[in-house]
This record gives sequence, structure tokens and C-alpha cells, in this order.
Amino acid sequence: MKKIKVMTVFGTRPEAIKMAPIIYSLQQRPDRFETIVTVTGQHKEMLAQVMAAFNLSADYNLQVMQQNQTLSDITASVLQKLEKLLQQVKPDIVLVHGDTTTTFAASLATYYEKIPLAHVEAGLRTWNKYSPFPEEMNRQLTDVLSDLYFAPTKKSRENLLSQNVSAEKIFITGNTAIDALKQTVSQEYHHQTLTQITPGQKLILLTMHRRENLGKPMKDVFAAINQVMQQDSQVEVIYPVHLNPKVQSVAREAFSNNSRVHLVDPLDVVDFHNLCARSYFIMTDSGGVQEEAPALGKPVLVLRDTTERPEGVSAGTLKLVGTKKSSVIAAMQELLTENSTTYQAMAKAVNPYGDGHAAERIIAAIEYYFKQRQQKPVDWIG
Ligand code: UD1
Ligand code: UDP
Repeated sequence: MKKIKVMTVFGTRPEAIKMAPIIYSLQQRPDRFETIVTVTGQHKEMLAQVMAAFNLSADYNLQVMQQNQTLSDITASVLQKLEKLLQQVKPDIVLVHGDTTTTFAASLATYYEKIPLAHVEAGLRTWNKYSPFPEEMNRQLTDVLSDLYFAPTKKSRENLLSQNVSAEKIFITGNTAIDALKQTVSQEYHHQTLTQITPGQKLILLTMHRRENLGKPMKDVFAAINQVMQQDSQVEVIYPVHLNPKVQSVAREAFSNNSRVHLVDPLDVVDFHNLCARSYFIMTDSGGVQEEAPALGKPVLVLRDTTERPEGVSAGTLKLVGTKKSSVIAAMQELLTENSTTYQAMAKAVNPYGDGHAAERIIAAIEYYFKQRQQKPVDWIG
């Protein structure tokens, strides 16, 4: 049987984390697949961290990252560099993940070469094109260009169907984030940052980086955290600060006088997942963290006005709080209250996002697409 030549293309931290289980599974089957790993390098250090943690190496690196890059910089650079590579390598299929500008630009470049395109984590929607920006349009445009759709949940499948994607092309796989999580969290884990936290304190893990939150929304959230912490001496925060200079400057200024907020460099994914598992609750505007935290039974205050991950809200783990100072203060205080029933209700471990076997289903679906398997793989029923 002819090997299927699969090229994965990704460029940022979250794409790498969620593509890693697929690459691993493909590489386990060298008789069936030729696996080519292309990174755009939209992220540099933060991508390198994930590659090292999952022992991944890139066959090609387009090295597009620039300090303070604009969306057009990334798009143009990926398009031009990937065109040449696709013409040279001629993969049978290209896999992209999620909703970054790498995802969209790589999808467009693949379409221009008339190569089949598969979208991992297809069908997530807020239906608001500026929230998150530009991710909502990145994923919608990618879904317009795709030939195969790996929808993580029933809801994401429904979203695709509502945009007239043929049911035959959609596979409900679960999210590969859960596959990754199964590899990282361990009871024995210990991290140096944890020694900085006074025993008995309530640890909040914070991340914030979205483009639409840069500036005032971020300042308001940080002011809310400082205010709550002034009134509650039992709280400590670990904040791994994204390397974007526009995030770094606001974070360092906001927390310069608060010694109970520990600003650290972006954490290795193993460190990050294990700190999530040891936190009291999480505050974030991240997409991926909204998938991981429910599996770990950690309440999440989502620092955004919309979410494309409504499953976690329905399950009760995620609360959409926005970025208004008064809303953030109220939500934090509610979770910090002694014997909070809200806390108890949110801290139940549920997992609407997968069973840890998403990568296997994705690989089976690729075989099915290339007629190397007769039966359509069975959908994951969450
Ligand atoms: C990107 C994605 C976003 C995703 C996020 C994950 C787009 C438009 N945005 O946003 O969807 O949630 O990644 O973290 O695709 N930088 C470094 N080193 C790094 C990474 C970033 O120095 O390893 C700095 C650079 O100055 C860069 C800036 O951060 O210009 C912003 O990076 P960029 O990829 O444009 O945006 P993110 O906010 O990371
Ligand atoms: N993450 C990490 N180190 C950190 C912060 C986050 O490894 O310091 C992981 C996190 O577990 C999740 C992913 O990065 O899997 C989320 O990435 P990010 O928040 O940058 O992007 P998003 O998911 O919002 O697109």
C-alpha cells in the first residue's frame, strides 16, 4: 500500500501542544505514513519549549517571527515561504490546527497548490468576527478551505453543518489537548516556583495574552486582581507572562508593587499543566486552558466576553467573566469566599473535550479519506 505523505504545519505554542499527539501517532506507523513536520516559526521561544517537551523536531522551519509582528506580516511571510515548500515536498495532505494566523495562511497556501487540507479542531465558533480577533475569522476561513474536518465535539460538528459542510467530511474526534494532558500531569511533580508559594495559601494561576485584551482590558483585570489581593492576604498568583512585549510591559507595571504575584517566564507545558493541577483556580483568556482545566477539576474565570468553548460553561467549570474590573472582582471574591458553593460546583472534574484518543481517530479518518480503510471511523460521543 502506498504511504500517505502527511505534512503538519503549525507555528505557535497551542498548535504545537495539540498537534504533538497526532505527529506522535503518525510516526508510530512508518509503514503507513510519511510524516513531515513544518513549523512556520510564528512563535520562536514559546514554540521551541513545546517541541523540546514533546521531543519533536521540525523538518522545515519557515522562521517567520518578528518582534511586534502584524497580522499581515505573518500572513504574507507564511504564504510566500510555504508556497515554495509545498511545491518542493508535494504532500498528499496538509494538516493545520486551530485558529492562528499560521493556520489560516497555511490553509490558503495549501489551497493554492490544490492539496487536500484537513483542519484539526474544526468548527469552533463564537459567531462574532472580532471576538476573539482574529481567531474567529481564521478558523471560519480555514473551514471554508478545508476538505476534512476534525471536530472536537458534537457542538463543533453542528456549527460546521450549519455552514453547509457535508456530514461525510466531518469526524468527531475529541480534542487532542486531552491526549496531550494525559502525558504531562503526574502526582510526583514538583516545580521551583511552587516553593515561592507560602504553604496554605490559595494559588491562582493567571494567563492573559489575547490581542483584543491588550491595553485597557488587561490593565483593568490586573487592577481587579491587585484590589482583591489587598483585601485577602491568603491569595498568591503565578503568572507566566506571554513574551509579547505589549503584554510584558503592562504586566510588569501592574504588579511591580505586589510581591504575592509571581511573574515568571512562559512555562514548559509539563510545568504549566502540573501547576494548573495544583492551583486553587485559574484566570485566563486562553483557549487551550479552557479545555484542560475542566479535566483537572479547576474552576476557570474566563477573561473574555465570548467563548468558542461553550461545553465547559455548560459543564459548570468555566465562567465567562469578561474584563470589567467590577465583574472580575465579584467573580474572584465569590470563589474565594470560605465554603463557597460556587467554588464547589465549579471544581467538579468533567471532561467535555475528549477521552485522550483523538489522535488515533484523526489518523483513522485520514486513512479513510485515502480509501485505505473501508469503514468511516466511529465518532467520539462525549
Ligand atoms: C498567537 C495567536 C493566538 C494564540 C497565541 C498563543 C495569531 C494572530 N495569534 O498570538 O491565536 O492564542 O499565539 O500564544 O495567530 N513573541 C516572542 N517569542 C515567542 C512568541 C511571541 O518574542 O516565542 C513575541 C513577538 O514579539 C511577537 C509577539 O510576541 O511579535 C506576538 O506574537 P504573535 O504570534 O503575533 O501573537 P500572539 O499574541 O502570540
Ligand atoms: N501553556 C504553557 N505554558 C504557559 C502557559 C500556557 O505550556 O506558560 C499551555 C497551556 O497548557 C495550553 C496552551 O499553552 O495548552 C495555551 O496556549 P495559549 O494560551 O498561548 O494560546 P491559546 O490556547 O489561547 O490559543
